[in-house]
Amino acid sequence: MRVLGIETSCDETAVAIVDDGRTVLAHALASQVEDHRPYGGVVPEIAARSHLDRLDGLVVKALSSANLKLSDLDGIAATAGPGLIGGVIVGVMTAKALASVHQKPFLAVNHLEGHALTVRLTNDVPFPYLLLLASGGHCQFLLANGVGNYTRLGTTLDDAAGECFDKVAKMLGLGFPGGPAVEAAARGGDSKKFPLPRPLRGRQGCDLSFSGLKTAVRHCIEALPPGPLTKQDAGDISAALQMAIVESIVERAENALVMAAAAKPNAFVAAGGVAANSSLRNALAALSEHNGLPFVVPPLELCTDNAVMIAWAGVERLQLGLTDSLGFKPRPRWPLDQAVGVAA
Ligand code: KG4
Ligand code: ZN
Repeated sequence: MRVLGIETSCDETAVAIVDDGRTVLAHALASQVEDHRPYGGVVPEIAARSHLDRLDGLVVKALSSANLKLSDLDGIAATAGPGLIGGVIVGVMTAKALASVHQKPFLAVNHLEGHALTVRLTNDVPFPYLLLLASGGHCQFLLANGVGNYTRLGTTLDDAAGECFDKVAKMLGLGFPGGPAVEAAARGGDSKKFPLPRPLRGRQGCDLSFSGLKTAVRHCIEALPPGPLTKQDAGDISAALQMAIVESIVERAENALVMAAAAKPNAFVAAGGVAANSSLRNALAALSEHNGLPFVVPPLELCTDNAVMIAWAGVERLQLGLTDSLGFKPRPRWPLDQAVGVAA
């Protein structure tokens, strides 16, 4: 069974072909980072136009690199939400057109489920597992019970962790995208020089909060002598921010592990762009080991947005007969615990 997947929900245009033997047959990806860099963030209108310009070419490229024709495929999957709606519409309309012309099943994939299921492609992790999903727009702990079956244990009360990295990077003049820039700047920094809070520390449950950190960083910057930030200050603030985010997530994860225990999870999984952060990966691996659970995180290139995860979610859904009608409407918002489907 081979599925072609399309990802266009943010600033990566990507097409992949994956089979049910867990082989990635093709992955063609065009990043729009350069298109958005002058604006310091993703501009939805530019993103949608850029997806439109590049998507057809990437479909052709993916098919030719896998040496396949559209008729060799068993299904066409696309991110159908959540995300920037202009881009999502471009991907969904393309997938529907291919599915309709070639008489193939269409699969409307929740982008968050793409992130959630990646470790089943890369590491064959069985359900159930505890999942930290940390990206630019989301930060939540979930129990992954089965395909289309998720229980949310806790979520951010305000900003996502990735958003906090991105906004602070902008304040520090580190550019876009912010997470990798803060991680790089933090390497030369002293994490103790600027004390930052640990939001929600000691509170019950595993909700998270990051907007206070952003404000605390602004106060640190305002307290510095006037003039441009020095490289050392930017490095020190980056190191302090990274440590505050990592320690907050770890402290909240301790509670999430307790909350998940009754479900007997097989692993603790981290996914989404922020899971590419090596300090976070190391800290969560240590916590998980301490709790006797294997810690699983996808390889770096499959943490950030990609189409392999969409094609794989398509494979998993097609195997269960969870296909969608061509009338499926793209959804700008689509909480994962409302996804329809069946338990494993
Ligand atoms: O999953 P993703 O690629 O796109 C969304 O679905 O949002 O996540 C993007 C987010 C951005 O906020 C980016 O700054 C963050 O992930 N990110 C990182 C790192 N790499 C990407 N945050 C911290 N450290 C990183 N190395
Ligand atoms: Zn994502």
